[in-house]
This record gives sequence, C-alpha cells and structure tokens, in this order.
Amino acid sequence: MATICVIGMGYVGLVTAACLADFGNEVIGLDIDTEKIAHLRQGVLPIYEPGLEEIVERTSRAGRLSFTSDYAEAIPPAEFIFIAVDTPSGANGQADLSSVQRAARGIAEHLRRPAIIINKSTVPIGAGDMVAQIIAEHRRCPVAFAVVSNPEFLREGSAVYDFLNPDRIVLGATDRQAAERVAQLYAPLKCPIMITDLRTAEMIKYASNSFLATKISFINEIAQICEKLGADVREVARGMGLDRRIGPAFLEAGLGWGGSCFPKDVRALEYMATVQGCHPQLLRAVMEINRDQRIRVVQKVRDLLGGLQGRVIGILGLAFKPNTDDIREAPSLDVINLLQSEGAIIKAYDPVAMGNAAKVLRDVQFCSDPYEVARGADALVIVTEWNEFKQLALERLRDLMRRPVIVDGRNIYEPAQMRALGFLYQCIGRPC
Ligand code: UDX
Repeated sequence: MATICVIGMGYVGLVTAACLADFGNEVIGLDIDTEKIAHLRQGVLPIYEPGLEEIVERTSRAGRLSFTSDYAEAIPPAEFIFIAVDTPSGANGQADLSSVQRAARGIAEHLRRPAIIINKSTVPIGAGDMVAQIIAEHRRCPVAFAVVSNPEFLREGSAVYDFLNPDRIVLGATDRQAAERVAQLYAPLKCPIMITDLRTAEMIKYASNSFLATKISFINEIAQICEKLGADVREVARGMGLDRRIGPAFLEAGLGWGGSCFPKDVRALEYMATVQGCHPQLLRAVMEINRDQRIRVVQKVRDLLGGLQGRVIGILGLAFKPNTDDIREAPSLDVINLLQSEGAIIKAYDPVAMGNAAKVLRDVQFCSDPYEVARGADALVIVTEWNEFKQLALERLRDLMRRPVIVDGRNIYEPAQMRALGFLYQCIGRPC
C-alpha cells in the first residue's frame, strides 16, 4: 500500500487515481477546480468513461479515494505525486506548460517528506527536468525527491480498460531506483515495463501518437489515390494489415483524426523539431492530409448538389469518435464551418455530444434523431461512426429527404446497396 496524490482530475488523472486506489493504495485526487472536486465528492464524474463511476464509488466508499483542492492537505503525506494536468496547444503549436508549472510550484511549497513526482501529462521533451528544477528552487523543506516520466497511452472511451491492460509501461528517470519504485505501483498489471531516461520517455509518447496519426493520414492519402484509380481502400487496408510488419489497426480511411491528443501532440512535436532546426516535413504532411480530408468531404457534397448556397445539410455525428461526448478538434466542427461559410443550412444529431457542440457552434438546428435530421435535407454527411448510424432504416431516411444524397465520411455503408436504394452515395476511397 502506498500513499499517492494525483494532481489534475481530467481523463488521465481521474482514471489513474481510481485504478491505483482499486489496487489497494490510499489515493487523494487534487484539482484546483473546486466545483469539480465538490461534484467528485458526491460521486458525480466530470467525464463519461465506461466502468469509471463504479470504481470511483467503490474506492471512495472503502475510504481509499478522496478529493481535495488543497495542496496543503494532499501533498505532505504523499510518497508518490502524479502530475496529470492539461497541456493545451499554445499559439504556435507548442505545448502550454502553465498548468504543469503551477502544479510543480504547489508540490514544492508543500513537500514535507521524500517523494517521487511522476509526470503523466504529455509534456515537451525536457519538461521533466523543468519540473525538477522548479521543485529544487521552490521547496520549503530540503527533502529528497526524484522526477519520473510515465507517459499515458489510454484512449477516451476505453480509458479504464486501457489503464488495466496496457501494452507497456514506460518510465523515464535520472534516478533508476525511483523508476523501479514506480514500477512496483504497476506490478498488478503484469505487462512489460521499460525503464529509460527522462527525455527518451517523453519522446516515446510524442513519437507513438505521431506514428499513429501518420498511419491514418497515410491510408487517407491512399484512399484519395484509390478513388481516382478505381480501387477499394478498405480492401487495400485489409490486404496491407495482414502483413505482420504493418498490422491492421489504425488503417481506417475517413474524415481523419481529431480529439484531445493527436492534433496537439503532432503539432507540438513539429514545433519542437522546427525550433531545434530540424525539417519535420513528414509531420507537416500528416497534418495537411488530415486537414484536406475535411475539405474533400465538403467538396463531395458541393459537387453532388451543384453548390451549397441555401442547401439544407444534415450532419450525423459530432463527437471526434464514437462512444465519447468529446468534440475537441472534431472533424464535424470544420465540416460544419466550411459548409456554413458557403451558405448551407445545418441540422445535426449526435447521441451524446450535442450539449458540448452547442457551446461552440452557431446556427445549427440540433435534432432528436437521424430521421429528424433527414427530414427536408438536401444531403446527409456521416461524420462519426456511431453504432446507431450503422443500421438506419434507409428507405425511411430516403423518403424523408428532399434529395437522396449521402456522403459517408466513415465508410459505414456499401456503395452497391446504397445505389440500389436510389441514393446518390459517395464515401472515402471506394468506387461509388
Ligand atoms: C489517442 C491514442 O490512441 C492514445 O494512446 C493517447 O494516449 C491519446 O490519443 P484518443 O484520442 O482517445 O487516443 O483516440 P483514438 O481512439 O486513438 O482515435 C484517434 C483519432 O483517430 C480519432 O479521431 C479516430 O476517429 C481516428 N482514427 C482512428 C481514424 O480516423 N482511423 C483509424 O483507423 C483509427
């Protein structure tokens, strides 16, 4: 049993705190957002994540998980202090480290016993050293401490599963003994644990996310070429994925990647490389292809309708991917903005993300289901591949629409079937 503090009660922090408490540790979750803490104390979670509520409930009831906004309460007893605060994109794409710096100063002021500080936030290479320096300069008591980098690879929507079933744990430290003590916290997971230096661990996170984004942009570029040459990108991806050196994951062509991690991390790596005098041309192309995917889908709608001015376009799906209400950097936002800039009228439906979307979108008519979206629409665009869009009553949909036009940005329907039903149907990288 260890005494642990986790700073930052977002996706990464809350999942980490809850799962470590479930392993039998005593965990206190710290966040400066007092409203969030008040809710957590009542068992109300700031995010939707399958399985998380039960673990928070169980461990809070057992007295192993508690929440506070007070550094003076959380830091002094902790042997392990995780930093899991947000690192948003700054103006030029560089990661904004102000939350990490604030957390480091908070730790420094209240450190009363030797502790290991573990960075789980995705931070630029060198930030672990920065945290160590802030703590060394600002600590009130001359106690020993070590900083360990421990990048998190969990996905939204399966964060608890991913935490409990990782492919690997990466730990980076100057002090190997400190890394080995952190490794002990993860002993229940029985997965490969890799110990390396601080900067290498930080780089593993950026390189992994950038590689996955590259895989998606690669297949999206292939999709574009397939369209021109009459090949089917889904079959191409299947054929490629059977090669064990390539693997089948992350080869689904479509509207591209979004969310809170990939865009921010690829941008930040490109920025770090540029500042160092490198020429990160692949990363730039990966981002450009991703932007183009959104533009190209709008172009398809425009071509099918012969213009967008005054046309009613229905959007199916707003979340950046299924099973989340997160719309950060979602393709839907760009697609809607592009359509609106050409005078289109937008209706939209998403099973869970409409509340978040309403905060950032203007002049969108939100509907209660896909059929209401279809009513009177000149075209539908499938933006997120929610399960509930996969078996729509297509004849009913067609009869409700002003024109039977569908642009399927996630390849969930079969072109031949759609044609047989009388739709003008376009998708990504497949002959229609
Ligand atoms: C990602 C990483 O997977 C995770 O390891 C990291 O810690 C955080 O970023 P997440 O943002 O939750 O997780 O999303 P993920 O499920 O990985 O999907 C990323 C994006 O890629 C989504 O927008 C998804 O729609 C898109 N995608 C994924 C594709 O377009 N095609 C694919 O084949 C796979």
